[in-house]
Amino acid sequence: MMNIWHGLLFLLVLLTISEGKLNVLLIVADDLRPSLGCYGYEPLITPNIDLLASQSVVFNRTYAQQAICGPSRASFLTSRRPNTTHVYDQHTYWRKRGGNFTTLPQHFKNNGYVTFSVGKIFHPGAASGKTDDYPYSWSVPPYHPSTQQYKMAKVCPGPDGKLYMNIVCPVDVIAMPEKTLPDLQSTQHALQIMQNVSRFPEQPFFLAVGYHKPHIPLKYPREYLNLYPLDKIHLAPDPSLPPKLPLVAWNPWADLRERDDVKMLNVSFPYGPLPKHYQLLVRQSYYAATSYMDDQVGQLLKGLDQHNLSSTTVIVFMGDHG
Ligand SMILES: *[C@@H]1O[C@H](CO)[C@@H](O)[C@H](O)[C@H]1NC(C)=O
Ligand SMILES: *[C@@H]1O[C@H](CO)[C@@H](O)[C@H](O)[C@H]1NC(C)=O
Ligand SMILES: *[C@@H]1O[C@H](CO)[C@@H](O)[C@H](O)[C@H]1NC(C)=O
Ligand SMILES: *[C@@H]1O[C@H](CO)[C@@H](O)[C@H](O)[C@H]1NC(C)=O
Ligand SMILES: *[C@@H]1O[C@H](CO)[C@@H](O)[C@H](O)[C@H]1NC(C)=O
Ligand SMILES: *[C@@H]1O[C@H](CO)[C@@H](O)[C@H](O)[C@H]1NC(C)=O
Repeated sequence: MMNIWHGLLFLLVLLTISEGKLNVLLIVADDLRPSLGCYGYEPLITPNIDLLASQSVVFNRTYAQQAICGPSRASFLTSRRPNTTHVYDQHTYWRKRGGNFTTLPQHFKNNGYVTFSVGKIFHPGAASGKTDDYPYSWSVPPYHPSTQQYKMAKVCPGPDGKLYMNIVCPVDVIAMPEKTLPDLQSTQHALQIMQNVSRFPEQPFFLAVGYHKPHIPLKYPREYLNLYPLDKIHLAPDPSLPPKLPLVAWNPWADLRERDDVKMLNVSFPYGPLPKHYQLLVRQSYYAATSYMDDQVGQLLKGLDQHNLSSTTVIVFMGDHG
């Protein structure tokens, strides 16, 4: 929703004009397109994000620093382009490559804030020094939901009643390992942090919450499917290869192909196409996963209200690729 360069400027302006220090809630959704109600995109049902947008500055021009998470997150969290961070892949740590740059949360931490990372903020693993850049960026070790370890597990029920590792994966949460899902855990953890920090109103905080959805796999509570009957889903209006596009820029979606449901479709390599009925199913589940994430955002906003933090907290909501 927010071009980060403008977003940071907006934050700094607000911080300068405020008497006391405002708190910050930074919400980052993984692989979210600007196909949202607040951008006039009708099919998506995102009431919480739309409500937030109606009270916010909405940025209509979006920029993808790079179309994969590691470089893009390193870029917007250091306010530097990939050609400065020298991070172009998912396993390079900017501190070891481009430079020992101060990050956005680190800047807050260095200026009296207590800083928290919940879920996916930095790309985890080697791309953030195997620590999510702790302790430079964060006051306490970053939290990762325990059920993210089932990202590649066979937990999606197929038509034959067996379990698969699918792309399209509506689930009964109660049947999942640990009876929960990663983003549900992240919301609970963030709400606990809000409760904790609300006891110390004089201590400003920077709370970053990174949701895994709507990134693939499209695993979400089954009830969100009810919002999107399949006969109301339309195919992409522009499915074909643009005539002058260099082939290197046309992704053969290798990480879709390794999933059981897509594998069974025998889609030709590199560019498919995916059968039309499966395109519709994928779009339907992307929408449902986005509405599920929107509900998580709604819970965070409600949490701020409940703990009397809304009037003292700046909220930034963004996708990680523009
Ligand atoms: C941004 O786009 C929305 C939806 O299309 C529109 O309502 C709004 O006026 C636009 N804002 C600006 C600043 O152009
Ligand atoms: C990075 O790319 C931008 C845009 O093309 C350019 O203006 C800038 O000079 C480049 N920076 C470096 C360090 O190469
Ligand atoms: C990087 O910067 C941090 C402070 O921001 C400092 O503590 C650390 O020693 C620096 N590391 C290197 C290798 O310069
Ligand atoms: C909240 O505070 C309690 C008591 O200090 C602590 O045990 C707990 O770990 C904190 N929770 C979070 C999510 O930080
Ligand atoms: C895919 O190929 C396998 C093995 O050749 C075959 O059994 C299966 O029916 C094919 N599936 C489709 C959807 O064409
Ligand atoms: C809520 O927060 C405001 C602003 O910090 C403060 O003035 C007010 O006393 C708080 N109310 C309660 C019930 O804590």
